[in-house]
Amino acid sequence: MSKTSVQVGQVIWVNGPVVRARGSQQIGMLEVVEVGDEHLVGEVIGLERDVITIQVYEETSGLHPGAPVYGTGMPLSVELGPGLLQSIFDGAQRPLPVLKLRSGTFIGRGIKTTPLYHKQKWAFTPRVEVGDVVQGGAILGVVPETPLIEHRIMVPPDVSGRLTWVAPAGEYTIEEPIARLTPLSPPYEGGSTPLNPPYGGGESPLTSPLEGGQRGVGGEQTLTMFHRWPVRRPRPYRRRLPPTELLVTGQRVLDAFFPLAKGGAAAIPGGFGAGKTVCQHQIAKWSDADVVVFVGCGERGNEMTEVLQEFPHLTDPRSGHPLMERTILIANTSNMPVAAREASIYTGITLAEYYRDMGYHVALMADSTSRWAEALREISGRLEEMPAEEGYPAYLAARLAEFYERAGRVVTLNDAPGSVSVIGAVSPPGGDFSEPVTQHTSRFIRCFWALDKALASARHFPAINWLESYSEYVDEVADWWREQGIVSPLSSGGIEGGADWHALREQALGILQRESHLQQIVKLVGPDALPDDQRLTLETARLLREGFLQQNALDEVDSYASIEKQMRMLQIILHFHERAESIIAKGCPIIVIHDLPIVNTLVRMKTTVPNEQVEQIEEIWKALDEQMDQVKKDYM
Ligand SMILES: Nc1ncnc2c1ncn2[C@@H]1O[C@H](COP(=O)(O)OP(=O)(O)O)[C@@H](O)[C@H]1O
Ligand SMILES: [Mg+2]
Repeated sequence: MSKTSVQVGQVIWVNGPVVRARGSQQIGMLEVVEVGDEHLVGEVIGLERDVITIQVYEETSGLHPGAPVYGTGMPLSVELGPGLLQSIFDGAQRPLPVLKLRSGTFIGRGIKTTPLYHKQKWAFTPRVEVGDVVQGGAILGVVPETPLIEHRIMVPPDVSGRLTWVAPAGEYTIEEPIARLTPLSPPYEGGSTPLNPPYGGGESPLTSPLEGGQRGVGGEQTLTMFHRWPVRRPRPYRRRLPPTELLVTGQRVLDAFFPLAKGGAAAIPGGFGAGKTVCQHQIAKWSDADVVVFVGCGERGNEMTEVLQEFPHLTDPRSGHPLMERTILIANTSNMPVAAREASIYTGITLAEYYRDMGYHVALMADSTSRWAEALREISGRLEEMPAEEGYPAYLAARLAEFYERAGRVVTLNDAPGSVSVIGAVSPPGGDFSEPVTQHTSRFIRCFWALDKALASARHFPAINWLESYSEYVDEVADWWREQGIVSPLSSGGIEGGADWHALREQALGILQRESHLQQIVKLVGPDALPDDQRLTLETARLLREGFLQQNALDEVDSYASIEKQMRMLQIILHFHERAESIIAKGCPIIVIHDLPIVNTLVRMKTTVPNEQVEQIEEIWKALDEQMDQVKKDYM
């Protein structure tokens, strides 16, 4: 990068990660620059007459006025190609273990290393032939990137033409040519017409930043297995699809109560220790996303170190392989420069979009976006901008929107379905959801998983508050649930509608809402003052809370619940309620119902019934009916 750079200015002012330089006007907004003799990497975030404002991704101590600033002609971009999976990057896509080896610490200053390892050879199998006309997004060939994921080598989005040469199957580095093409008439003019509007409304003076390959004589273009893409510009797709497919997480409170659709966006707000990280790990491990991108912004250095140590040891429960084989980690610790943290969520979502474009379902997790927002606040403070709420800049909301709006289920440029689901953890100080980051985030997500300190203290995990949480995808995924074809075990019995998830969910939430209301009364007068039908509501609500909503991430059976198991558990708890209701109406005291052995069986089925043997719930159903029949006889 630095080979082609030209000096564009001189440093006049240094304030932590923010540097101002005076110089020529040949520099573009959001252009990557190199600062000082050490060539520290930065990004232009302000241009005013001849003053260039830069945020620097590396430690700036020792940098002084008069130091040179070099332009690169490129916006902040990522390298996209085989080798991304299993990698651990910083927010500017610098590979962490490599840097650690070279400099002995996490990030050495001015160290230039490519994000991908350019010397590695990959087994490429072409999927196209000479003479084929290809467009951006077309799949040129495939590479077995890891045992779990096939990497589909695509024509870069802004490139198209007729193939004049295709490499035969074989081993190539990502720098070696794998195809050549000539543009169709009208002749390719060098510039590109972006399919999506560029970042910032198109005022960037940069010419096409995309390097799909080099152009030779006659406009022929050489393609390699990697290309670059600017992180602040969403990657193009054909069209959006409605979010009608459930992202199956195997977590009952999520899938059955507050579902996230594939391509949707969710927030997990919660104070320290409420369970944000465990929840995100569970989704990373168990969800039916093909690829996981995890952006970690640790508050304390050691928190991120834990993630860095833990993640590489996680096993993908379905394949038994290391989870890293379908994961990319982006890590920011508190001792890394804040500007890299600011960039990290855009870097993460660009990598996620890239795998989406191959036709995969990708889940991106950011933990925690509050730490990211604090980076934004710090940079804004250094710029002496006018602060809005709680010191955050006025553009906090716009930045959050730019991030969450890149979630989506789409038809790719190659006409395949793909999706990026985004799950952002928020850590509001003191767990107070009225603070700006939680408030603004809630405008751009449609699924709100409110973690509750009180539930966590009571060891109710996941500590997701069922009264404060919501999902706006409920109606959209209802048909998906119906299409799973899970039927009631007894065709005649059971809840009205048998196995309609939407109805079961409404009924269960209704009981929990009534419980919350009744508990106000219980607090005043004690439970004995309530009539038995209301005490039954409390009993069933307890079953729902302890037997259904509580789910132990550390229990081998309970950690994941299949869709079918979730549905059957919900059915049988509500069947219990229905049977008990009619018996109580006949005068049976609640205590008799409370003492039935089936109650305990229902609380424990989450751990006693394995996913592969959900039919065991039919036996429990029979036992339930027998016990209820017996009681009924006694009170006829
Ligand atoms: N689903 C769960 N099952 C079991 N324990 C959990 C679960 N969720 C959270 N915990 C417990 O809560 C602790 C704190 O959770 P964590 O995700 O680290 O909180 P946060 O990231 O919000 O600070 C965990 O170490 C674990 O003991
Ligand atoms: Mg955490």
